Amino acid sequence: MPLQINNIHDYHEAYQKSIDNPEAFWDEIASHFTWKEIWNKVVHFDFVSPEVRWFEGGKLNITENCLDRHIKDKGDQVAIIWEANDVDTPSVSLTYKELLREVSICANALKSMGIQKGDRICFYMPMIPQVVISILACARIGAVHSIVFAGFSANSLADRIKDCTCKMVICSDFNKRGSKNIPVKEVVDEAIAMGCDSVEKVLVYNSTNQKINWNPELDIWWDDAMEGQSDYCEAETMDSEDMLFILYTSGSTGKPKGVVHTCGGYMVYTCYSFLNVFQYKPGDVYWCTADVGWITGHSYIIYGPLLSGATTLIFEGVPTYPDSGRFWKVCEKHKVNQFYTAPTAIRALMASGHEEPDNYDLSSLKVIGSVGEPINEEAWMWYHSKVGKSHCPVVDTWWQTETGGIMISPLPGITDTKPCFASYPLPGIQPCLVDLQGEELHGHNQEGLLCIKYPWPSMIRTTYRDHERCRTTYFSTFHNKYFTGDGAKTDEHGRYRIIGRVDDVINVSGHRIGTAEVEDAINQHDHVVESAVVGFPHAIKGQGIYAYVITSGEVGDHAHFRKEVLDIVSKHIGPIAKPDAIQIVSQLPKTRSGKIMRRILRKIAEGEYDSLGDISTLLNPECVEELKAGVKRLS
Ligand code: PRX
Repeated sequence: MPLQINNIHDYHEAYQKSIDNPEAFWDEIASHFTWKEIWNKVVHFDFVSPEVRWFEGGKLNITENCLDRHIKDKGDQVAIIWEANDVDTPSVSLTYKELLREVSICANALKSMGIQKGDRICFYMPMIPQVVISILACARIGAVHSIVFAGFSANSLADRIKDCTCKMVICSDFNKRGSKNIPVKEVVDEAIAMGCDSVEKVLVYNSTNQKINWNPELDIWWDDAMEGQSDYCEAETMDSEDMLFILYTSGSTGKPKGVVHTCGGYMVYTCYSFLNVFQYKPGDVYWCTADVGWITGHSYIIYGPLLSGATTLIFEGVPTYPDSGRFWKVCEKHKVNQFYTAPTAIRALMASGHEEPDNYDLSSLKVIGSVGEPINEEAWMWYHSKVGKSHCPVVDTWWQTETGGIMISPLPGITDTKPCFASYPLPGIQPCLVDLQGEELHGHNQEGLLCIKYPWPSMIRTTYRDHERCRTTYFSTFHNKYFTGDGAKTDEHGRYRIIGRVDDVINVSGHRIGTAEVEDAINQHDHVVESAVVGFPHAIKGQGIYAYVITSGEVGDHAHFRKEVLDIVSKHIGPIAKPDAIQIVSQLPKTRSGKIMRRILRKIAEGEYDSLGDISTLLNPECVEELKAGVKRLS
């Protein structure tokens, strides 16, 4: 069974085999990689505990597969191209040989600073080549990475560092993003001052040459740490099921949870899905615009492409700087063949420069992808016609932090595409729709809750130090199934269309925000008694955040109060979680048992007053009129 599927016949054959005999299927796929020792069992699973193990007994190091494996044939091929935030800064390229060398030096530096197999390292970094180098260096010596998106606040960073007791933080001095100059190291200092006692060293890359505070006890400059290190580092032998990384993500309750991915299965699946979903061919230049702080960056900027021996572009900037032609300019400059971005960026670029792609030569593009949230038909059409010039298939890829890799997506040039449909599952993936009772909805043209009924290699293994949370969040809702938290439909051919989250998670510009987290932050305000946060449709972000707030007494100037609430949310979570609307109310609709009726709040925020349903069971039905009147005032 080859790694790459070339035609529809291969797809059907691979899919059928993966269902009929998953063990034989994955055994063949996994044999394409470099293993130090071969596994003795392909998969062991029990979705009740849950317990999932892939390629048990297998020994490997993922970086040998990302780097060393390619040196013989592709040593001089470019592995990463870096495009800076500022248009005038020259781009940087590193070949596979050069990348292996840099990774080895960095790996030796980490070792010399006391990092050992199993230690956790937190990354709080801009999109620069050093982020890829140090992540791979971490994996090379068997340490575990926990990357935190550099837009999160000091508070969020501190929570994540503490939860997995990181021994080291790797950061830059500042981060130039668009016209902003973000004081990265200052945020790290602030986070560490919040009681991150496990941190023994902060490794700082001098990215912008600006003055920063320096703590000689903790801080060490990147260049000093690399100085004199050997350029060869033997890759640590890892068990298939050893932890590769932790990535925190929001859920419907409590603080973000640390999703754990392990070495063997994650390696096999990210490479397999990358090669098939993007139909990457030798010599192509692939660009995913995500940040490495999200799962998309992990799987499809770093691991998937490098495992496949691809040339992967990393971009430091933002889509609108210096203008809304930047993405297209980068595609033209580097002759990008596969381009992968989020619907929110597509909508923003469509709004600010409908004809802008016409000003650039985009003839190199072959495949264009979308990820992170449902893509609406208008955005899909614009992307397809203006960017893809009506000949590039749009791959609308559905997956999650927990799935590790793309689960449902068209295969470009192989399966057909349909606007708004993620379409068919990849080989090895067995999705199903269930009703509220967990009964599977067989056949086509169904609508229900999206579950997966058989394990796949890159699936979540646990939530860090809290296995019970993993069980209750994903495996206890429906017996013997992984529950995704998404609702979906199928069409008459069985293509999947993802509708969106059915839990209390809001998808803002493709970023998952838990309503409970935002409420907790808002409730920190001295004058807030209670709050309730829901999502509402937003033209650019997909969903916006709507906060209903009960205050104590008079808050005085409402504009000032709203600003204070926004500041608190920024401080506690980060600017991405700032509400788009804040409505001050005297009551929230509650059931007789005291539960907030979010369904009603959602409908009101959406402006759907006619379909509120039965409100007679509310403890306080009279509040509904007040809520409706308040929304009208806002708009
Ligand atoms: O609701 C789905 C949505 O994003 C959620 C996963 O978010 P996260 O773990 O942050 O990972 C995002 C990048 C993989 C899903 O539960 N989602 C992701 N891709 C799509 C999507 N919704 C619709 N269509 C998609 N293609």
